[in-house]
Amino acid sequence: MDDLRKEFPIFKKQKQLIYLDSAATSLKPKTVIQAINDYNQKYSINSHSESSSPLFKKVWTTIQETREIIAQKIKGKVEEISFLPSTTHALNILALSLKNHLQKGDRICLTYLEHSSNLHPWQAIAKEKKAIVDFLPLNKEFTIDISKLDKYIDKKTKIVSFVHVSNSLGVINPAAEITKKIKEINPECLVILDACQSVIHVPINVAEWNIDALALSGHKVYGPTGIGVLWIKKELGEKLPHLLWGGGKKIGPMEEIADQNLPLSQKMEVGTLPLAEIFGLKAAFEFLNNFATKEIYKYENDLRNYTLQKLKKIKNITIYNQKLVSANIITFNLASYHAHDIVDYLGKNNILIRAGNLCCPYLNKLIGANSALRISFGAYNNYNDINELVSHLQKIIQSPQVLLPF
Ligand code: ALA
Repeated sequence: MDDLRKEFPIFKKQKQLIYLDSAATSLKPKTVIQAINDYNQKYSINSHSESSSPLFKKVWTTIQETREIIAQKIKGKVEEISFLPSTTHALNILALSLKNHLQKGDRICLTYLEHSSNLHPWQAIAKEKKAIVDFLPLNKEFTIDISKLDKYIDKKTKIVSFVHVSNSLGVINPAAEITKKIKEINPECLVILDACQSVIHVPINVAEWNIDALALSGHKVYGPTGIGVLWIKKELGEKLPHLLWGGGKKIGPMEEIADQNLPLSQKMEVGTLPLAEIFGLKAAFEFLNNFATKEIYKYENDLRNYTLQKLKKIKNITIYNQKLVSANIITFNLASYHAHDIVDYLGKNNILIRAGNLCCPYLNKLIGANSALRISFGAYNNYNDINELVSHLQKIIQSPQVLLPF
């Protein structure tokens, strides 16, 4: 994968950088950076400025091609793709759109694996509609326990929203089997998948799996920040209300357009689209498609196993997901040291990992600690990154004074 690392210009500018925080944000390959620059330098016009100019044609076709490549990747339909600023925005908009689907006493099921974006929007609408939020049980693999779903899902369960790959432990929920079981119990229940950590690691097939909606973020798939995708199954999208108003829709006086059933993207996307980001997102999915997902998954897994072997030798380390099947994550703590002190020290040495609650409000329920350290791998990592990290962790154990701020 050394050739692949060369695709990431940041390593030329930041020669000392050891980046092990890809679950937070992945680095950008040069094709993505180039595509963003191309929009700004060569095209840079508004996609609403319709004309026969080659510039308009390029911008317009790139928007369509970006929808197509994402639809192909998740096996959805092109017209089911909307661009929103992030997974968090997408899930908020989706939750607000589904608010009136709920009545007092209805149920929404989530899991303790979720990060804030897939908790708070649902908890907010549940509070407003006096619906009940429940948490699905996890098995010893820390994935949803399918054998217990019939005790949790019933006819009052209107929405189940769960993470495909967890950002705290990296565990992979078997989305197809979970959805199958939920729909067997209650065919009307909507199943929503938070795919922001998964689309880069594992194949997705929303059509075959019978998912109703899915969200993902550009910046976690080697793409730009400021853009995400909300995919909604056509049949559901058609029923959703218009929530957002403004330009970008079919133009006309409000009283003429309000009752029209506009295409989904016109309900969800308002104003000028994030065009440079759309160019970048297309390049990110092309980049993903150029490398077999399986190959990257295996490589990241080899790195993970190598790291685990090394970490296990460190005194007083607790690794929370050592024995779990994990896409690309190792979560741990060193006894007696606060995760933030360690991450500060590593940061001073150009080693970036993540510390804290990992945006998971219920982290404690998973690992019995409110904060932890997280290593997350990307395709650009190599064995040297791991050796450097481990040698600095060893240094902390041998000379804890390195953690002092002076
Ligand atoms: N949710 C992001 C993470 O996992 C920021 O770190």
